[in-house]
Amino acid sequence: MEAGREGQPPPGKKRKGPEAAIAAKYRRGPEVATRRIEDKKLKGKLRYTERLVADAQQAAAKVEEWLLPAEAGELEAEGMERTWRFSQADIAQAVEAGAARKAFDLQLPALGPYSLAFTRSGRHMLLAGRKGHLALMDWQRHRLVCEVQVKETVHDACFLHNEQFFAAAQKRYTYIYDKRGLEVHCLEDTTEATRLEFLPHHFLLSSVGSTGVLRYQDTSTGRIVATHRTKQGPCDVMRQNPWNAVLCLGHGNGTVTMWTPNITTPVVRMLCHHGPVRSLAVDGSGRHMVTTGADGQVKVWDLRTFQPLHAYYSPSPAEWCDISQRGMLAVGYGRRIQVWKDALSGKQQSPYMTHRLAGGTLRNFRFVPYEDVLGIGHSGGMSTMLVPGAGEPNFDSFVANPYQTDKQRKEAEVHMLLDKLQPEMITLDPSSVTQVVREPREVQKEKQAAAEEANRARQAERRAKNEEKTKMKGKNKPSRRQGKKQANIIEERKPAIKARMREQGVAAEHGHKRERQEPAVPDGVPRALHRFFKKSAGMLHGARVALGRRVQRAGRSTWAASGADSAAAAAAPAPVAEQPPLEQQQAPKQQQQAPKPLVLEPLTSEQLERNAAIVERLRGQLILAPLTRGNHLPFRRLCADFGAEVLFSEMAFARPLLKGDRKERAMLRRADNEKTYGVQFATNQISEGVGAAEAAAEAGADFVDLNVGCPIYEATRRGLGAALLRKPAKLAKLVNGIALKSPLPLTVKIRLGENDDKINVEEVVGLLQAAGAAAVTVHGRTMLQRYKRPASWELIERVARMHSVPVVGNGDVLTHYEARRRMDSHGCHAVMVGRGALIKPWLFWEHKEGRELAPTAAERVAIYRRLVAYMKEHFRDDERGKRAAFYFLPWHFNFFCRYRPMPEEVYGAASLQQPLISTRWDSIACAELGETVAELDPLERLLRCESEAAFCPIAEALWEAGSDADAEAALRRLAADSLAGWEEELRASGRDSGRDEAVEG
Ligand SMILES: Cc1cc2nc3c(=O)[nH]c(=O)nc-3n(C[C@H](O)[C@H](O)[C@H](O)COP(=O)(O)O)c2cc1C
Repeated sequence: MEAGREGQPPPGKKRKGPEAAIAAKYRRGPEVATRRIEDKKLKGKLRYTERLVADAQQAAAKVEEWLLPAEAGELEAEGMERTWRFSQADIAQAVEAGAARKAFDLQLPALGPYSLAFTRSGRHMLLAGRKGHLALMDWQRHRLVCEVQVKETVHDACFLHNEQFFAAAQKRYTYIYDKRGLEVHCLEDTTEATRLEFLPHHFLLSSVGSTGVLRYQDTSTGRIVATHRTKQGPCDVMRQNPWNAVLCLGHGNGTVTMWTPNITTPVVRMLCHHGPVRSLAVDGSGRHMVTTGADGQVKVWDLRTFQPLHAYYSPSPAEWCDISQRGMLAVGYGRRIQVWKDALSGKQQSPYMTHRLAGGTLRNFRFVPYEDVLGIGHSGGMSTMLVPGAGEPNFDSFVANPYQTDKQRKEAEVHMLLDKLQPEMITLDPSSVTQVVREPREVQKEKQAAAEEANRARQAERRAKNEEKTKMKGKNKPSRRQGKKQANIIEERKPAIKARMREQGVAAEHGHKRERQEPAVPDGVPRALHRFFKKSAGMLHGARVALGRRVQRAGRSTWAASGADSAAAAAAPAPVAEQPPLEQQQAPKQQQQAPKPLVLEPLTSEQLERNAAIVERLRGQLILAPLTRGNHLPFRRLCADFGAEVLFSEMAFARPLLKGDRKERAMLRRADNEKTYGVQFATNQISEGVGAAEAAAEAGADFVDLNVGCPIYEATRRGLGAALLRKPAKLAKLVNGIALKSPLPLTVKIRLGENDDKINVEEVVGLLQAAGAAAVTVHGRTMLQRYKRPASWELIERVARMHSVPVVGNGDVLTHYEARRRMDSHGCHAVMVGRGALIKPWLFWEHKEGRELAPTAAERVAIYRRLVAYMKEHFRDDERGKRAAFYFLPWHFNFFCRYRPMPEEVYGAASLQQPLISTRWDSIACAELGETVAELDPLERLLRCESEAAFCPIAEALWEAGSDADAEAALRRLAADSLAGWEEELRASGRDSGRDEAVEG
């Protein structure tokens, strides 16, 4: 076995051997023999040339010696040895002492799992613990530079242009810290990011996260350069291609998309896996990409042709991969890491090295630049693995210098800023930036002719102008100046002349401006007050004219928001006849500047009848809530099978819908067994709302619903969803405008308010009633609250009892007895259920029957298979259909796995005290029902397993099975093979309980 680097000279000693060998490489053939040449001139010339050649040879050898002093070493096995059998302890013994020091473990079990990042020079390391621990280390000196506890979840962290600053994607916002650990910026636009990448040549910090929005922010100017909606749902996989700075994202439906800031759609979209993409990596030359997927495959792609080169299978789906500077590929899953040599250029039979983590389950790893080391972040802290031959042994100090001094760093920073590339220069093929695109000769000629013509026209124009100027010549000549002086003399006399003319009444006859008529001042008013009197009279006159006009405009067809509850009614204009005399209305100034009254038009009697009819159909129903991603047609069909009578579509964005976006339009389709079907859309424009309602009517909907509850930033930043709650009057106008022209009755779904300090649900429901909403659904949480606290049914009840518009209550209903209780005792017209239906679609049956169904594991497999059958019908039973269906199917197991039987006699009282759905149980087995994990049927345990790694294989087994019995058998096999690993992984990762945040629409 041989490890370490070769060719490194002992310091201070001149290297004879290698230097001579290098010099020989640059020799230009044998020397010219000059001894016998008699021509002195020629002899001198030749000697001189020879000297030059020798100097050049020496210089070249020196340059090579300094720039490439070392060659990479590698592990070499002898005889029956296999390199992958060498343990880290063996390697650490064999390598030199300096390299051996780099093998170490940092044990930080409390705040993990940890992810890590390195600076481009490999000198500094950033550790980010999921539970809020951030630490910056000088990797070479093994010294802690700073450490900070941010006290909230940290998803990812990365360095900016050097070790002076780093960014951390925290629970809500992304923050920038300096090397002392002080927070220097909060990037409020970058919300809910889960992955960060910094593009060093462009100074762009890019982020993507649970909203599926890719953002580029320039860290030198703070400007948001681009925001792209990926439209692929939450995204947790992002790496940059270091060659062209194109970002590669891995998605849940198995595709990888590539993005630049300049184009709002991906420049490349590749289908890489059946099932979610777990991780990806691109090599330094930008030629190869490696992806790992939940389908258990590791694929190597050629990025010039976007074709797969070869694929490997891993025993468990690989969670992470990385490519070293010298092209070694590391792949990790669970506690295992494999390193493959030459795996990009050809398919290898066995790995180069393997390693088993002692400290915990893997989170991520990165090869350390310019080192033969792999840094590994895991649930127990951080470890390293020595990988001889992984790093580039020679560094270019102009690119990255691990031994940089402070002065060099400052200079490099200035240079980086001066050399900063613009975001527009990010293209798939960066060499195209330097190419000149020539136009065809005919086009060039045409352009030249047009330019010449324009020049001629401009010259002609200029000439004409000059001629005009010539005419004006003499403006300043002495006679004119004299004339002006005369005029000024007359001016002085003007006021006197005017006064005389006024006295004589001449002004009117000569067409002079008539002096304003002074209003008569009543007798007895002191002279000092005359000017106030004049002013107010003028103001009153103006006010009278303006008011008269407004009343004329509004008088014909308006009515103010009615009802004792409407604040707007007080501000509405009274009819003209009832107005007190204007002079008496000399109100204080503030009163005159009162906000415009809210004017809402009443619905026609036909529209009111239509509203009443739909309200009647909603009475007492358990309604399936609008659920982005969850409420596709096959799922609604399944719920309708279980007796759901009123069902909502997924939310559609009205604007793309009207522009003909196929995906949005497809969301409107109605299933045959849906009795009452509502389409929800998001908009803040009346015309768009009316258009969307017309499209819904065409698709066969019975009513439409306006989304005023969506809290995700992508919607609220555009003034959609819950953002509409900020301006209730504007919302009322919007609802009124849509309700008046919509062909279908309009309902509205709202939240309690923007945050705990801005709860305005009472006012909003009053205004919506006046605006003509047929019913209002109140989700008992605020926009910022998400699913962290239980929904407030006290407020829902108060609003339901306060207003006459039917109120549908929504929030935290999981069982039939909760639905009944909410309907009976909280004054709600109906109850809406979201996650409850996603967890158990048979909840509608339970509501109707008034008892629990409690299906066994085998019965649930049959129910899930029915969903699969509906998906096959809807999306088609082929590869393409499967791809479309798999965007949804594994995702459903996020919810299905949370099903536990909940008999009323055991859980009825507890559900009152602990209504928050996401915290109702914390174990696979229900202790209250006498269950223990060990005694549970493996199939039941598999269906309750919350590991995301399990969802895809379960979906796969259901899709492929020919019958329910086949599906059950396949799932039992899966449980026997993989369940223990998934459960172990879950235990080790200590996952947060705030799961619902990521999926809410
Ligand atoms: C996955 C998911 C998607 C959602 N999508 C929407 C949506 O598109 N429109 C909407 O108004 N509410 C949406 N919501 C909110 C639900 O409709 C509902 O108001 C919320 O989940 C509370 O009800 P629950 O406690 O019964 O789940 C969504 C919720 C979830 C969990």
